Amino acid sequence: MEFSELLIKRRSIRNFQDREIPLSLIREIIRDSCLAPNAANRQPWRFIIVNKRDRVEKLARESKSNLLKDLENNPTSLLKNYETILRNESYNVFYNAPCLVYITGPKDVRSLDVDCALAASYLMLAATTRGLGTCWVAFGSRIKNPDILKEIGLPADHRIVAPIILGYPEEIPEPPKRNEPQILKIIQ
Ligand SMILES: Cc1cc2nc3c(=O)[nH]c(=O)nc-3n(C[C@H](O)[C@H](O)[C@H](O)COP(=O)(O)O)c2cc1C
Repeated sequence: MEFSELLIKRRSIRNFQDREIPLSLIREIIRDSCLAPNAANRQPWRFIIVNKRDRVEKLARESKSNLLKDLENNPTSLLKNYETILRNESYNVFYNAPCLVYITGPKDVRSLDVDCALAASYLMLAATTRGLGTCWVAFGSRIKNPDILKEIGLPADHRIVAPIILGYPEEIPEPPKRNEPQILKIIQ
């Protein structure tokens, strides 16, 4: 695939085929994601793979219920904009995906968000070249239940930066419209 085609094909996918992903393929994609640039080559990213649809769904329920609690505690938060969808019983924040990768890392690494976001970008592109669809789902990061945190093996001193769902797409949509680049100044 040409790189420009890859950029078009990498879309946020929210509708997946009923097909599992071989674990070896997920490992390959994660390996590719680690080629991302990162501060001082510290590579602080750590990965949690949930390659079972019902476990992904359990995490979706946990995160969604915490989002709703947060909204009740803080009705003026930005979450208010998403209240209708969050209150929709059939809304699964992970869109019934067969696989989820949490990109996490130690809380005390200052560049963690940037490093993990770059790894996430690479991961999404690497998945696309292998015919997979992905979506970064910020709504899926609110995991608080201690038993569930233990189950996914998130160390106490780590935090989730990027929840990325993966699966074989039902279809690849056209890219949502982008604005013209806002170039503030050209000096030449
Ligand atoms: C940091 C971040 C958080 C996101 N969170 C969500 C989310 O919670 N749910 C969702 O459906 N999409 C989420 N997305 C996907 C965006 O909606 C999507 O990237 C955007 O609409 C552009 O579409 P494209 O990815 O196909 O180019 C997120 C994307 C990013 C980068």
